[in-house]
Amino acid sequence: MIQKLRPRRMRISENVRAMVRETTLSPKDFVYPIFVVAGENIREEIPSMPNVFHLSVDKAVEVARQVADLGIPSVEVFGLPEYKDEIGSSAWDMNSPVQRAISAIKKAMPELVIVGDVCLCQYTSHGHCGKLCNHYVDNDSTLELLQKVAVSQANAGADIVAPSDMMDGRVAAIREALDENKFINVSIMSYAVKYASGFYGPFRDAADSAPQFGDRKQYQMDPANFHEALKEVDLDIAEGADIIMVKPAMAYLDIVRTVRNKINYPLAVYNVSGEYAMVKAAAANGWIDEQRIVLESLTCMKRAGADIIITYHAIDAAKWLTK
Ligand code: PBG
Repeated sequence: MIQKLRPRRMRISENVRAMVRETTLSPKDFVYPIFVVAGENIREEIPSMPNVFHLSVDKAVEVARQVADLGIPSVEVFGLPEYKDEIGSSAWDMNSPVQRAISAIKKAMPELVIVGDVCLCQYTSHGHCGKLCNHYVDNDSTLELLQKVAVSQANAGADIVAPSDMMDGRVAAIREALDENKFINVSIMSYAVKYASGFYGPFRDAADSAPQFGDRKQYQMDPANFHEALKEVDLDIAEGADIIMVKPAMAYLDIVRTVRNKINYPLAVYNVSGEYAMVKAAAANGWIDEQRIVLESLTCMKRAGADIIITYHAIDAAKWLTK
């Protein structure tokens, strides 16, 4: 008997495969995260994140230019401040590396979309994402601090602010503060669905933001939960988020697909530091083909429904995609 139904016909050559390919990846899909530090002419590799660097503001501008030249539309700025205190006040200090980097990059490349990460864990002496009341992160007094951070980043020139703290009501609070300060066109990309994940390990080394006691499970989500993700998305949309994010990416693509099917807003995923470190470590050992694994993973994030992918692989991936 001759087989009649042959899906393999549609895989017969590269051009046929190209014609029926459902998902294509482009440098336009990416946001590249950068870590800025005080000082000048600093470009120090982060040990647990090969090829990712601590950059002084001058070097951050150079990297941002490289990003823009590769056709990547956006960078997200994280910072290591010069001082830390109980409430994280360096997070809204206009002389901190983040605010200085945002304004320097905006000045050099006005068209590059700058995302500011709004959180306090890099800036507090205790490493938690908000103001402490005994050993509990107090929600409502933290909102006032997050408002200051968002407004300071908008003042510096951020196009988008991205709250990653997971306090209740932060999107509404930040929207209100931005609007009061006339930043009606600064968008909010909400880390709406952010899990309490072990995959953030290398980032906490990079950003020196590990909690000094306990963990983040009282504010970030339980990885075992699904419906709670949809609840968080509903709330952040009601509060005025412009872009919804799911984080981490690789182990959470079921959430990405479900959220994509449910909302009419742009959806971002964060391909986090631990996901990056695992790929880099296996590639360094010769156990996997880095280019192939990276492009496959990023394509699958897009297939799952992501419109925007925040990834440390952005520069390499953009080079591979355009060569
Ligand atoms: C700050 C923040 C974190 C990440 C992004 N923003 C760390 C955390 O919540 O502990 C993680 C990013 C990554 O792992 O690449 N709250």
